[in-house]
Amino acid sequence: MTLILGINAFHADAAAALIRDGRILGAAEEERFRRIKHWAGFPSEAIAWCLADAGVTLEDVDHIAINALPGAHRWRKLLYTALSRPDPRFLLARWRNKRERAGLPQQLATAFPGQRVRAELHFVEHHRSHLASAFFASPFEEAAVVSVDGFGDFSSGAWGFGRGSELSIDGQIWFPHSLGAFYTAITQFLGFPHYGDEYKVMGLAPYGQPTQMEAMRRIVRLQPDGTYRLDLTWFQHAGQNLPHQWSHGIPTVGQHWSPALESLLGPARRPDQPLEQHHKDIARSAQVMYEEAFFHLLNALHRLHPVPAVCVAGGCGANSVANGKITVSTPFEKVYVQAAAGDAGGALGCALEVWHRLGNRRCEPMRQAYLGSEASAASIEALLAEPARAAALAEAGCTIERPAESELCSRVAAAIADGLVIGWFDGRMEWGPRALGHRSILGDPRRADMKDILNLKIKRRESFRPFAPSVLREAVPTWFERDGDVPFMMQVYPIRAEKRALIPAVTHVDGTGRLQTVSEAENGRYYQLIRAFESLTGVPMVLNTSFNENEPIVCSPDQALDCFLRTRMDVLVLGPMLIRRQG
Ligand SMILES: [Fe+2]
Repeated sequence: MTLILGINAFHADAAAALIRDGRILGAAEEERFRRIKHWAGFPSEAIAWCLADAGVTLEDVDHIAINALPGAHRWRKLLYTALSRPDPRFLLARWRNKRERAGLPQQLATAFPGQRVRAELHFVEHHRSHLASAFFASPFEEAAVVSVDGFGDFSSGAWGFGRGSELSIDGQIWFPHSLGAFYTAITQFLGFPHYGDEYKVMGLAPYGQPTQMEAMRRIVRLQPDGTYRLDLTWFQHAGQNLPHQWSHGIPTVGQHWSPALESLLGPARRPDQPLEQHHKDIARSAQVMYEEAFFHLLNALHRLHPVPAVCVAGGCGANSVANGKITVSTPFEKVYVQAAAGDAGGALGCALEVWHRLGNRRCEPMRQAYLGSEASAASIEALLAEPARAAALAEAGCTIERPAESELCSRVAAAIADGLVIGWFDGRMEWGPRALGHRSILGDPRRADMKDILNLKIKRRESFRPFAPSVLREAVPTWFERDGDVPFMMQVYPIRAEKRALIPAVTHVDGTGRLQTVSEAENGRYYQLIRAFESLTGVPMVLNTSFNENEPIVCSPDQALDCFLRTRMDVLVLGPMLIRRQG
């Protein structure tokens, strides 16, 4: 038996994953336990959970992998430093980060006192970890593989080829050139300052027109070999002391764009300023530029490896709009994007890389993302019986029942069809940033006012951001213009024109939907719920958004219950229990 622990540490989205003999036992992001979005630092709680869930201790672990290689690409770094003479504070910050990662044994000893670490340590380069997280988890025997992100180990992208248990890298994009840095710069320029806000620009883009393409093509320069470079006139991440915080807490990164960018795109938007058409046009133009560069790279990759399948990873792998166009904008016919495409996924990737490096057979594919914590029916019943909780539920006018399993889905489906908002907590928590029907809030996709209801009752998020549908797998070609497995909500497809008016709550302004395909084999109860909704309404999907209120997705039943009580959700399904607010 070989037990491998993978870690993403001292970077945003700190996470841990545990595999045994090539099978993923568990994986979770630290943010869920610490209750701080994108938490950066050493993921001691995620590690502790992975070990406890598998019934092992740190002493049982044979190999520990981290998705960083201190000293990687040393000559490139030295050359860059000699030529560009960056701010010494910038170098100091990088040196500190490197030292923290190299101090992994000490971190483990502090977090798990008294436990002997006998595991061999493996430092796996950042992008190799990304590529491994995509290819080895995929169902493909052979595939082209690409990783695109901000930066990791002095690189912002890598591509290569996987076959069986082998994965080779053909090339990389080096610091300071980066599509992720480009997208972050535009995100900040448009007045979205927080780490991970890039998806807001992606959601805003369809409201604009690509009027700024000439400017964008001056910022991102496509190269004849399929790569791209940034014109550093418009950036300041390359040599300034760009403050960032990845050590313990909320991750922050400094301003990527240089003041010169305002001469190209007009004044930057402050977060408190209204979003005007010009801002929407910049968002659209940036998304189009990202797609041009991404497909430029993928087309070159296909020339190198003319195979049907491609696997995508890296923070930019979360650009589900671009991912959804791969099969129409490149010769690739099949796409796999692992549930945690971003840096959390590096924890899984480095563990899978070590498993295959040890000469083992190919691991099992990751077909579903339900790899996190769960709660037993008994613990949920005990929670509801706690005097303080029972009093809070009574005060909120809630009824509590335990219906027969066969009845639960039909009753919840009827509640959704009545326009109620459902908190749905079931089984193991999702791995990756998306709620996929285990920690979800559900609504009726047919109601034009559902978006406003959800924003009013719970989410209070920007009105331009779309909500997503969970769709029965077999119904995808009837409702969407493309077909394929999208189990992790990582691709956006156009909804068929004649269907759009039927599902306004999950149809974005450009007629697309960020779908999750739900199959009977992988989804069990969630599939049955959507089937029940379909038999009531003829619509084989529900609106699915994450179970949270401006916080990380709920992890435990008490967090779900607290979220239900402090918001205006109508119904809460907590494992086998059905809780309903009356009146
Ligand atoms: Fe990364």
